[in-house]
Order: sequence, then structure tokens, then C-alpha cells
Amino acid sequence: MKSPTEINVAVEALKKGELVAFPTETVYGLGADATSDQAVARLFAAKGRPSINPLISHVCNAQAAFALGMFSVDAKKLAEAFWPGPLTIVVPRAPRCPISLLASAGLSSIALRVPDHPLALELLRAVNRPIVAPSANLSGRTSPTTAAHVKRGLGKKVAVVLDGGPCTVGVESTVVSFMNERATMLRPGGLSRNEIEQVLGHDLDVEADSKRPHSPGQMESHYAPHALLRLDATSPRKGESYLGFGSHDNGPYTLSERGDVVEAAANLFRMLHELDGLGVKAIAVAPIPHDGLGEAINDRLRRAAAPRPKT
Ligand code: TXA
Ligand code: MG
Repeated sequence: MKSPTEINVAVEALKKGELVAFPTETVYGLGADATSDQAVARLFAAKGRPSINPLISHVCNAQAAFALGMFSVDAKKLAEAFWPGPLTIVVPRAPRCPISLLASAGLSSIALRVPDHPLALELLRAVNRPIVAPSANLSGRTSPTTAAHVKRGLGKKVAVVLDGGPCTVGVESTVVSFMNERATMLRPGGLSRNEIEQVLGHDLDVEADSKRPHSPGQMESHYAPHALLRLDATSPRKGESYLGFGSHDNGPYTLSERGDVVEAAANLFRMLHELDGLGVKAIAVAPIPHDGLGEAINDRLRRAAAPRPKT
């Protein structure tokens, strides 16, 4: 629990249109007042994020979300089953939704989430308005799972960094859209497909783009550490550091020695940050099973290994 003054300083900064980084159970978020065009524009600029990529609005409970978007019966079912938690729900904007249109990047939809972290919830309750928050890193780089990662990546661009220790889930929320007839998974994340499908009672649709995950031309580079990544590697080659998985791997950078994808997700971004900190040039990554949170881990690794835009 943070002292009330620390929360108050963060609340005042948000109300002035400044940026506040805060912990969630998935990754650290870079927060701004979702109802202020200026604050949202400042956030896009600080991250170097293309303004065509919409943002998630965070609220302190499901009731607050239901006032901002139009939830179908199935969308409500997921909200009630999994919030607070690592799930983002995309629904049509409510008629008088006060969230900046910039946050929706010109779409008629809005992405909403109730994070499962005491400090995030305390902040959201105290500020009493929706807060947009992408991961608190420069666009395209590795997401932060500690306050130190945030400070290293964003430095003076952030007015306040609330430190809530390392994130427990370690990969971003699963994004499910209700903009089409059938619920569609837009991004695999901290809540597994299986858990969602069990509550819905049917399969999630998959977005057309992610049906072509193996054609690198379609794949946007994202989550990238400075080092180059080689995936599905059973052992390192000369000059490579090894990011292992499973009982046969026991090096210092093993995502989960007991072969647990939940533990691996929690370690993924931290280990990529640490290897970057050591200045390694190339990282070979062990194969990761695709079930449960493995789907999200493999998604992040694929994008981190994708060809990078020339800078
Ligand atoms: O776990 C998380 O979701 C973290 C923490 C801070 O909550 N936030 C996060 O935000 O990962 P960001 O901005 O890095 O990712 C937001 C994702 C993007 O893939 C974006 O395209 C999608 O959500 N998104 C946001 N609004 C959308 C909308 N209206 N329609 C479709 N996709 C949307
Ligand atoms: Mg991100």
C-alpha cells in the first residue's frame, strides 16, 4: 500500500494532464486522463506511438465500464467472470461516452479493462475517471514489469512512477472484441483462450491477421529487445545467450525450470530486459509449448523476433 500522499501526487498529476506510470498485474501502464484530448495526445507523443493504434481505458470496476461502452450479454458475462483481471473487452462506445476520440483512434469502439492490482485500483478510485494506459515503454520495445524498467525506458517523460513491485502475470491482457457477431480474440494475453471459451460456451474467433503468424511480412515488429532473437532453438550457437524453458535447462535465464507457462510469462519481459542490460547481441530462445499462456508468450516472442523497421 502506498502512502496517501503518493497517490494524491499521482492523482493531481493526472488531473493536470500529465503522465503517471503505475503497476498492474500484467505490465506497468503509462496512464493519462482518458477524458482529455490533450493528455491522450501527450501520451501518444511520449511513447512515440502511431495515433492509429487505439488505447485501453482502465476503470475501477465493471459498473464504471458498463457506463462507457455497450456490453452485450456475452461481453457482460466475461466482465463479470474475469474482472478485475488480465482481460480487455472491446465494445461499441456508449452514446455519451466521455472518453477522448483520440483514444479510440477514430474507431466507433472502446477498449476497457479493470486491472487486478491494489495500487492501480486505489489510483483509479481516487482519480474517479477512466485512465488510458498502454504499456509504459517506448513504442515497439520490451514491455516493463518493474518500476526500474519504466524509469530506464521513459525517464523524464513521466511525472510520477508508482512502484508496486514486479508484475505477477508479466504479459499484457488478452483483448477480446465484441464488434462482430462472434467474440473475437484480437491479442492473446494473460488470460488463456480456454478459460474465456469455457465461460462463453463456444470458441473465440481468431482475427484474420493472426491467421498468418508465420508470414514475417505481415508481422509488425514489437516488444523488441536490443538483442536479436532466434526462436525454437534447442541450444545456443556461438555468441548467443540462451533463454531456456524446462527441466533440461538450468542456466541463469530459464523462463521456467519446471516447464510452467504461467511462471514463464511472469519471467519473460524481465529476462529480456536483463539480457539487454548485459548488452548481449543475440538471444536464442527455447521452444515454448503453445497451450495456456504459451499462446501469449509465443505471440510476444514472434513479434520480438520480427524484422525491425530501419531507424
Ligand atoms: O495488460 C495490458 O493490457 C496493458 C496494461 C497497462 O493494462 N496495456 C496494454 O496496452 O497492453 P497497449 O496499448 O500496449 O495495448 C492495447 C491493445 C492494442 O493491441 C490495441 O490495438 C488494442 O488493445 N485496442 C485498444 N483499443 C481498441 C479498439 N477500440 N479496437 C480494437 N483494438 C483495440
Ligand atoms: Mg504495449
